[in-house]
Amino acid sequence: MSQPSLPDLYLRRGHLLGIEGMSRAEITAIIDTAAAYKLLAADRALPRDLLRGRTVATLFFEDSTRTRNSFEIAAKRLGADIIGFTSSGSSMSKGETVDDTAKTVRAMGIDAVVVRHKSAGVPAHLFDVLKLPVINAGDGAHEHPTQALLDALTLREVFGKIAGLRVWIIGDITHSRVARSNIFSLGALGAKVTICAPRTLVPPAFSAAYGVSVTHAMDGALRDADAVILLRIQKERQDAGLFPSMGEYAANFGLTLPQVAGSRIKAVLHPGPINRGVEISSDLADSEYSCIERQVANGVHVRTAILASLLRR
Ligand code: NCD
Repeated sequence: MSQPSLPDLYLRRGHLLGIEGMSRAEITAIIDTAAAYKLLAADRALPRDLLRGRTVATLFFEDSTRTRNSFEIAAKRLGADIIGFTSSGSSMSKGETVDDTAKTVRAMGIDAVVVRHKSAGVPAHLFDVLKLPVINAGDGAHEHPTQALLDALTLREVFGKIAGLRVWIIGDITHSRVARSNIFSLGALGAKVTICAPRTLVPPAFSAAYGVSVTHAMDGALRDADAVILLRIQKERQDAGLFPSMGEYAANFGLTLPQVAGSRIKAVLHPGPINRGVEISSDLADSEYSCIERQVANGVHVRTAILASLLRR
């Protein structure tokens, strides 16, 4: 069986802290590499010794299902060792700081850190302190770069290209790191991005700051969008009272299967976890429009590409 050759992706900064400032060429190189690893995985031909002897630490100070597990699977598939760390069940709950926890883990001889934290800037700070490769797995409402990269890979698979695509991001924009990373990524890749949210869930200056269209009504998406990215209401990150009720949100901003079937939308993405019956109806989540499971699968391949490029050599 012939093996596709691996692009020699090199993340020149030695970290993946965010998408902001990345060029179209850099983002495309990562997606291309992830696609190459996906082919290798399908052929059961992954280089299983590529990261042998390397150790990756996952420091998750916030909950996660998909992101943490897919980093672990990716690391193991390339032969790396992985140690997992969550704030509950560790000395964080005894008052240890993030810096001290990270330094403790580094002293055990790790080669890279994957970090998720509720505060924006923690991954960049750890990169300065530890001087090791750091991958941001989500920092507050700031960035979630691997999510945007797996979304881009998914959209490219469905549509063949991203330039010119009309993508709507619908939901709680204010509190979403996924929205920010996708705005930077899709913008760099040449998509036309529209943000759609209740006025209370998108900052007034968003349009000017990020060069996207902002709207507060869903009907345009049904006329205009090729793809939509739905977002959860981040209840853990907002004060009460930003909108009247989940029922009202669902009535005005929830997407359903009949709406999508009568529109030009071909792909419905959602980073998960989904709230069925709020931002997405159950039948839509399970329909052929839904890319949710494909996104999860692509997450493993994107994280494989990132770990390989930061840790081989
Ligand atoms: C997202 C996150 O944690 O930012 N989920 C994910 O990583 N798949 C989105 C969310 O929590 O709503």
